[in-house]
Formats: sequence, C-alpha cells, structure tokens
Amino acid sequence: MTARKAVQGISAKEYAERRRAALDAVAPQSALLLPAGRELLRNGDTHYPFRQSSDFLYLTGFQEPDAILVLLPGRRAGETVLFCRDHDARRERYDGPRLGPEQAAEALGLDDAFPLSDIDDILPGLLEDRSQVYLPLGADEAFEAQVRGWIEDCRSRRGGPVAALELTDSGHILHELRLFKSPAELRLMREAARISVLAHERAMARAAPGVPEYVLEAEIAYAFRSEGATGPAYPSIVGSGANACIMHYVDNAAPLPEGGLVLIDAGAEYQGYAADITRTFPASGRFTPLQRQLYDLVFAAQTAAIEAVRPGATFNDPHLASQRVLIAGLIELKVLTGTVEGILADGSAMPFLVHRCSHWLGIDVHDVGEYRFGEAWRILEPGMVLTIEPGLYFPADLPETPRAFAGIGIRIEDDVLVTATGYEVLTEAAPRDGDAIEALMAQSGS
Ligand code: GLY
Ligand code: MN
Ligand code: MN
Repeated sequence: MTARKAVQGISAKEYAERRRAALDAVAPQSALLLPAGRELLRNGDTHYPFRQSSDFLYLTGFQEPDAILVLLPGRRAGETVLFCRDHDARRERYDGPRLGPEQAAEALGLDDAFPLSDIDDILPGLLEDRSQVYLPLGADEAFEAQVRGWIEDCRSRRGGPVAALELTDSGHILHELRLFKSPAELRLMREAARISVLAHERAMARAAPGVPEYVLEAEIAYAFRSEGATGPAYPSIVGSGANACIMHYVDNAAPLPEGGLVLIDAGAEYQGYAADITRTFPASGRFTPLQRQLYDLVFAAQTAAIEAVRPGATFNDPHLASQRVLIAGLIELKVLTGTVEGILADGSAMPFLVHRCSHWLGIDVHDVGEYRFGEAWRILEPGMVLTIEPGLYFPADLPETPRAFAGIGIRIEDDVLVTATGYEVLTEAAPRDGDAIEALMAQSGS
C-alpha cells in the first residue's frame, strides 16, 4: 500500500495572519504570553505521547514542548518573540532534533527567538512598558506563578511603585479566533472526517457477535494511522450492549452480544484537527424491530437537528429540535406521559437523553468558543463547526426504563459546518440511516 499524499497543512502566511489577528485584538500596551505544552512523565523515563497545547499550536504550528510565545503589540523591535529549547546534542540523540532558537524565528515566521534558559533575564525587560498581560488563566498554575515572578522582577527593575500589570485570560481573545474555521482548517477537518468515516466503516464490517470490542477499536486505530492521522482525537468508545449507556466507556473489553447493538464514538486527529463521529449498529448486521424503531427515532431527531443548523439560528436551536423529536417519540412509545413542551420544560426526559446535542469542533474535540453571552444563546455564523449528536439511553438499572428497552443505548453523531446558506455535513459519507447500515454490514458478511 502506498501512502496517500498528505493534505496541505496551515501555511506560514496563515499562522502570521492568526498572530496578526491576536495582536490586533489585545489591548495596545499589553503582552500576550502563551506556553507550549509540557512533556508529562508516565513512569521511569517514559512520557505520555506529547500533544501540543491547542492555543500555542494555533498561533505557531510549532510542535516542540517547553516554549513560550510572546506577542507584544506595537513593539518596534518586533511584535512576535519565541523562547524555545536550545540545542542539546545528547538529548537530541534520544528524542530527535530540536529546531533551536537560531533557526526558530525564520522557520516559524517570527521576529525573534531566544533560548528558553534565558527567559528570566529577557522577559521582565519586554514587559517594562506594558500595562496588561494576557495568559491562559486557570490552566497551568506553575506558568501563572512564573508570570507573576517576571512581573515582580519587572516592577523591581522599573524601581519603586509602578502601575499594576493587570492579568487577563488570553482565552477570550484566542478562542473567538479559533471558533471560525478558515478554508485551510476546513481542508484538514474534511480529511479528519474522511479518515474517521473509513474507520467506522472498517469497524462495522468487522463486527459480529462474539468479536471483542477491542478488535473494533483496533480496526479504527489501524484506519487512523494507515491513513496518516496522528491517532484518535479522543479515546475511542466501543460500547456494545448495555455498555452503550456508559457515556465515556473506554474499556472496550466485552464480546459483542448476539442480538445487541454496538455504539462506536471515534474520531481521528489529522494535523491537529479533530473529527467526532458516533454510529450505532447491530452486532449481527440486522436490527430487531424494536431496535430499529428506537434507532429511527434518534435518526429523525438528528435529521431535525441538522436541518436546524443555519446562520442566524442559535446554538440551542438544533438541541431543541432534536429534543422535541425524541420526547414526542418517547410519548408515543408510552415511556413518558405529558406534552412535548411540558416534558421539555420539566426535564423528565433527561434520564434517557443525558447530554446536549452539540459542541464546537476544531483543534480540540470539544473546541473552544463561547456558547452563550449572558442568558442569550450564541448565534450560528458561517465557518463554525459543531457536532450534532442526539442520543437515547435506557440503562437497565434506571427504574423508569421499560424492561423491553433495558440496556439499549443509541447515539448518532456527525460534524456539521455552518455555511453561508445553511449547513454541510462533513461526515456524511458514514452510513447513517438504518437501511444503509444494514446494507454495508450485509456486504461485508457480518
Ligand atoms: N466524543 C466525545 C463527544 O462526542 O462529545
Ligand atoms: Mn461529540
Ligand atoms: Mn463523539
């Protein structure tokens, strides 16, 4: 098998435009300090797989740990400065080459770069004429303490009492930028979606009663890596039978039950961008009439929610659309009594519905960006990407669960781009309606 050509990533020009947008959004006499991710020790000298901090990745594309980006709007000597790891011949023998401060500025399109080991000497000076410092607040105590130390140092250098350097969360600025996806980002998200669709199809084709959940997880992992994705954007959930009712089930250890459903929630990360897909299908390849009835209800709820995605709608509209369909279905099934609006208001369907219908999607699987402003839900705008993922769950130990439904969990999840006129389902190639799922599984001989 030959490797597929990598999809073109984010250009140096786009990273520069993102930094420009951040520089334009912060207060004039401010500094923005953004740390890279850190390597996290697992045990001995083994680390967890490194994943760059999302905001840092967004502004630099730089994949090394232990670096700090400094944005200094209006600074004549350069507005963008990086501190990064110096070369270390011995470490590089083990861990591979480092970019190093000599190359970093040019390679990343920044004004200047220094060794991280010099930061205590240099940074307080860079803060001298600044009145406000943006940094991620509440995310990394050690970094916050370091920043406070630099500020103290800066104050003492200024000599005597000076105006306080106000600390502001950088998230408000950067997360608004990240919420709107550029054409290049959408190219990467489409590729993450394409690979994730293949992975789901592969897992469906492999499913049969008795096959362990982890074998389907392995099929998914194989599809991700062999198509050039970094790996899963989040731990893959393969929940068969009653395991589908556990929202974050990741044991993936049980054999698929004869006559049961399988819920797979899995998405690839491709060049830093996530997909997030859930499909639910029968282990045997054929839904029972009751499973199909419940599946079709979730399918109808998801379809209604997808159709509610358009510019000008609120973030809550798809959620409400899906809940109305699910609640009407539960009334018809005699699981609930009352009116749709009454049940919507009193929350009595929530034991079966559990979670909301959507979240933003991008560099993070639960991506950043405000969902509401005060009491008001956010208005959807072109370029936003959200998931649409209604579910219906009947845990056996829930007293309200009708016995015939016990242990059934169904979720259908797709990734939806808000376009100028409506929506585009980035993951639509994954078989979604009950007939298409049965057809795919029949084809593969499940
Ligand atoms: N995979 C996490 C979620 O669906 O939100
Ligand atoms: Mn999701
Ligand atoms: Mn998901």
